[in-house]
Amino acid sequence: APVSLWGGRFAGGPAKALQALSQSTHFDWRLAQQDIAGSRAHARVLRSAGLLTEDELTDMLAALDALSADVESGTFLPVLADEDVHTALERGLIERAGVDLGGKLRAGRSRNDQIATLVRMYLREEAKVVGGLALDVADALIGQAEAHPGAAMPGRTHLQHAQPVLLAHHLLAHVWPLLRDVDRFIDWDVRAARSPYGSGALAGSSLGLDPEAVAAELEFDSAVENSIDGTASRDVVAEFAFVSAMLGIDLSRFAEEIIVWNTKEFGFVRLDDAYSTGSSIMPQKKNPDVAELARGKAGRLIGDLTGLLATLKGLPLAYNRDLQEDKEPVFDQVDTLTVLLPAFAGMVSTLTFDVDRMAALAPQGFSLATDVAEWLVREGVPFRVAHEVAGACVQACEERGIELWDLSDSDLAEISEHLTPAVRDVLTVEGSLASRNAVGGTAPERVAEQLEAAKVRVAEY
Ligand code: ARG
Repeated sequence: APVSLWGGRFAGGPAKALQALSQSTHFDWRLAQQDIAGSRAHARVLRSAGLLTEDELTDMLAALDALSADVESGTFLPVLADEDVHTALERGLIERAGVDLGGKLRAGRSRNDQIATLVRMYLREEAKVVGGLALDVADALIGQAEAHPGAAMPGRTHLQHAQPVLLAHHLLAHVWPLLRDVDRFIDWDVRAARSPYGSGALAGSSLGLDPEAVAAELEFDSAVENSIDGTASRDVVAEFAFVSAMLGIDLSRFAEEIIVWNTKEFGFVRLDDAYSTGSSIMPQKKNPDVAELARGKAGRLIGDLTGLLATLKGLPLAYNRDLQEDKEPVFDQVDTLTVLLPAFAGMVSTLTFDVDRMAALAPQGFSLATDVAEWLVREGVPFRVAHEVAGACVQACEERGIELWDLSDSDLAEISEHLTPAVRDVLTVEGSLASRNAVGGTAPERVAEQLEAAKVRVAEY
C-alpha cells in the first residue's frame, strides 16, 4: 500500500525531521468520520460524472462503511508514515477496496478542499454542542434568579457601591451575553454552511463533478462561490474562535465576581462542596477552583483566537501549509469549553446566597444618594441643584459617620429647603428599587418580566 499521497516526483522519502514536523494525525484524526462522509459524497459525484461504474460505487461505499466502522471501533488507526488524516484514510480505503478501486477516489479533489470542508463540518456540529452547554449555564443563572425574586444587593460601578439592584437583575445581566454568544454561533452557521468540496487544490475541478451535490449530501446550504476563497480562507474558523473566546470571557467575568463574593469580606455566596476544592496544607480552606479555572481558561481561549489570527495574517492566496495550524486552536477551544461549561453550570446552580447580608449592604455606602436627587427632580428642583443637595447630604453624613436615613428632619431642612421629610420614602432599598420601573430597570415587576422573557428565549432555541 502507498504511504504517501505525493511520491511520484520524489527520488527518496521524507527526512525524519520533516515527517515529525509535518505530521498532523495526532490532532486531525478527530476529523476521520467527516473525511469518510466527504468520501462517500465524492464517490457519488464521481459516479454521476461517469468516472465510476455502478458496481464500483457500490464496492467503494461498502469499503468506506467498513473503514468507518473500523475507525469507530479503533481497529483502524493512523501509523507513523501517514502524514495526515486524509493520507491515513486513503491507505485504509485501499487496504479494503484494493488499489485499483481505492486509488480512483482521489480524482478531482485535493486535501486542500477536503480539509477546508471537514473543519467546517466539525465546527458546525460542535457549535451546537457548545451552544447547548452555554444554554445550560444560562438556565442555571435563570434558576437562581427565579429562586431569589425579591433579594436586593449593592449594585456596583468601579467596584464601589452605586445603587441597589435586585440579585435577580444582576444574575440576568449575565444571562443575556450568554444568549448573544449562542446567537453568534447560530448567525455564524449561515457563513459556515458553504462547502469548499470541489474547489480542488485551488482552481476547481475539470472532471465534471458537481460541488452542489456534495454540499447537499454533507448538509451544507450550498457550495462556495469561489474555489480560491474556498481553499484559502479561514475567517469562518476564526469567527468560531472569536465566539468561543467571547463565551469564555463572559463566563470569566461572572467567575471573577463569584471569587470576590466568596471571600470572607464580601460573604455573599457559599459554594457547594461538590464544586469547591480544599488545600493540601490549610485544613480550613474551601477554594473557588471552578471559577478560577473559568477565569484562567478564558486566557487560553483568547490565546487560541489570537494565535489563529496571527497565523492567517500574512498568507497570500491560495492554500499554504500554514493553514494546517488552523485546527488545534479551535479543537482546544471545543475541548476546553466542553469541560468548562458543565462544571460552571453546576457551580452556579448550587451556589447559596447570603441574601440577608446582601440586602443589609445594599443601601450602604450612600447608594441611595441618586434617589434623593431624583426625588428632588420630581419635586421640581433642577437636576444640577438636586445633585448638589444630595451631595451635601452625603458630605454631612460622612462627617458624622452616619447613613442618609439617619439625618433628622432639621438636618435635612438645614441642607436644603426642598428636603421635606417626604424624602424618606425613597431612602429605603424597596423604594429605590420600585422607582426604577422603566423597561430594563431593576424594579421587581420589571425584573419578573425580564425573567419570563429570558425563559421564553431559552425555550425557543
Ligand atoms: N493537512 C493539511 C491541513 O491540515 C492538508 C493537507 C494539504 N497539504 C498540502 N500539501 N497541500 O491543512
